[in-house]
Amino acid sequence: MKFTVGIGLLGCGTVGAKVADRLQGEHDALERRAGTHYELRAVAIRSIQKQRPRSLDPHLFTCDARSIVDDPDVDVLIECIGGTNEAAEFVERALDRGRHVITANKDLIATQGPRLQALAAARGVTLRFEAAVASAIPIVRTLDEALAGDDIISVAGVVSGTCTSVLSMMEEGADYAEALSEAQRAGFAEADPSNDVDGIDAAHKLALLVQLAFGLAVISPRIRRTGIAGITRRDVARARMLGQRIRLVAAATRTVDGARAEVSPVLLPENHSFAQTAGVENVVRIFARDAGVLELRGTGAGGTASASAVLGDFVSVLRGIGEGRDIARRRRTNTLEPAIAVNPLFTSLTRSSDLPQYPLWDDNLTDTPAAHALLAL
Ligand code: HSE
Repeated sequence: MKFTVGIGLLGCGTVGAKVADRLQGEHDALERRAGTHYELRAVAIRSIQKQRPRSLDPHLFTCDARSIVDDPDVDVLIECIGGTNEAAEFVERALDRGRHVITANKDLIATQGPRLQALAAARGVTLRFEAAVASAIPIVRTLDEALAGDDIISVAGVVSGTCTSVLSMMEEGADYAEALSEAQRAGFAEADPSNDVDGIDAAHKLALLVQLAFGLAVISPRIRRTGIAGITRRDVARARMLGQRIRLVAAATRTVDGARAEVSPVLLPENHSFAQTAGVENVVRIFARDAGVLELRGTGAGGTASASAVLGDFVSVLRGIGEGRDIARRRRTNTLEPAIAVNPLFTSLTRSSDLPQYPLWDDNLTDTPAAHALLAL
């Protein structure tokens, strides 16, 4: 280990504080795993009043995020401020200056990922975002690396912890408003919870999954979505009487000219693995030509779980730097093709006569003969 990698961290909120705490508190262990020395050079914060992790030297904090991005001794920037305004500016600036970037910001990648990936590739640096989808579940690495030699036919799952929590609390008898404020209190809802309950957050995650799985430059505004805001306690109870549960499902399948993708509440048989999610648990099912069906489930939200994903990216980036290899590998995501068409997916699902507002989930939708025929082309 001959040199020291400079690290800059933007944001010290739910995720950023955990990341900072681990970077300092577990410094030696992380260095051993990374095989490289590193130094956390500065942490950008908005307010100096707020209490911060005790492991952090107060001298590390600055309210001038741009000074971190522009610091020539920062080799790796970790972005945990969220949102798409300042975060986009800082990430773009860092990539343009040849810094590797790790972000937990799904909104940013879901709306501007294709452009930022192209910039990272052009500058020979890497842009990592494992924490942006399903938090601790290593779905980005699975699609982008483990399955890089396969063809993905479909990807689907339950990826909104807030919506699942609200729906599972409604199954216990809570009404919608009570369940939502409880989910907010638990701290994993977005700053504006309408992003969760209107399906915007799930559509962002689905856009990322489509980019990774199909190599298509799909951004979230192009995905049709319906949220859970109209669901009543009566709907949930009626579904249970019919042996079903309502879950917000995000699903996409590859087509000849692009993809079909949609986010919507659907009725699921209660023994289906998507229905068996509760709280912040997420589940993602991948159907790949050669690997077949793979299912990953785990904690999909929260600072600790997201920090795990950020630090996984961190160690991986440092290993690449330490080995002196070109870590901006030719990823699927570096060469995204434009999606000619992104059509809704759930229109072909049947509806329950008892609860006609909700389509009935059908696994065959994402494992269709048409999809197999497409892969044979
Ligand atoms: N608001 C998100 C959720 C947090 O409820 O799943 C993680 O992206």
